[in-house]
Amino acid sequence: MPHVLITGANGQLGQALASHFDSAGRLTCWTRPRYDITDPAIVEAVAEADPDVVINAAAWTDVDGAEKAPQFAFNVNALGPKYLAEGCARCGATLVQISTNEVFAGEAGRFYHEYEETSPGSVYARSKAAGEAAAAATLDRLFIVRVAWLFGAGSSNFPAKISAAADRHGALRVVSDEFGNPTYAPDVAEAVAKLMETHRYGIYHLVNDGCASRYDWATELLRLTGREALPVDPIIAQEWPRPTTPPPHAVLVNQAGAALGINLRHWRDALHNYVQNEFNS
Ligand SMILES: NC(=O)c1ccc[n+]([C@@H]2O[C@H](COP(=O)([O-])OP(=O)(O)OC[C@H]3O[C@@H](n4cnc5c(N)ncnc54)[C@H](OP(=O)(O)O)[C@@H]3O)[C@@H](O)[C@H]2O)c1
Repeated sequence: MPHVLITGANGQLGQALASHFDSAGRLTCWTRPRYDITDPAIVEAVAEADPDVVINAAAWTDVDGAEKAPQFAFNVNALGPKYLAEGCARCGATLVQISTNEVFAGEAGRFYHEYEETSPGSVYARSKAAGEAAAAATLDRLFIVRVAWLFGAGSSNFPAKISAAADRHGALRVVSDEFGNPTYAPDVAEAVAKLMETHRYGIYHLVNDGCASRYDWATELLRLTGREALPVDPIIAQEWPRPTTPPPHAVLVNQAGAALGINLRHWRDALHNYVQNEFNS
């Protein structure tokens, strides 16, 4: 079994990765402040830890906040992966760099494959695209794994927020013209583990099957949690102003992973599993 080192191990995906690899072999989990990926000393720390694989789940993920602090976002999302790639190069490790569907502009009706040119819009998206490029310029043994609309344990994801808002307000307004791939963090962890075994480096879109609007996602969650009678008004994104305009249709296609037999189940099945795990315990 490989020695896996996970950065950002306290984050939503980091926790799912840590529990997946926990029983599989040697596991090292790094969290900040002890292990800050913007610190150049992280290069030496990786080399000393001498893992077989580093999975970088650390990131500045506050998309709206990044607009006001671009330097900070680029430090974490671009310089961080560069340092980790340098550390991997020093000890012969593979890097799995987690990235985002937002590296694409997300034009209406488009479905994005791994081979397409990126077209990032927001500061966050540009910093993540820069992270992909920095890692690729430094290391050959590199998987770039783009995910989207993550949900899992904890309260900082869309289904958890929708559930809390439903309990608080008794009625909801949800955007119906923004589309993505709702993706269950534990499913990503399982798919990453399979991908690592292939040694077929490159770019992958590891998302749950199917796409949804935020409205579809919210109403399915309410149905699965027995609250289908709760009134939900579909609204357009312009009625829900934000400091950044999210890509309307940054929907990813898992072509490269599927070619290797790595398929993630439909998001509705994953959401069902999430509800069983998070709501019935
Ligand atoms: N969430 C989504 O819907 C989504 C969608 C597409 C792509 N992604 C990508 O998926 C990955 C994981 O996202 P997530 O939702 O798990 O994010 P998350 O819950 O915000 O976790 C990110 C983790 O990174 C850590 N971190 C931040 N700055 C750091 C630094 N300088 N050094 C070390 N650690 C640092 C944070 O530490 P603290 O715990 O101390 O804050 C946090 O634990 C990211 O690459 C993100 O860009 C996420």
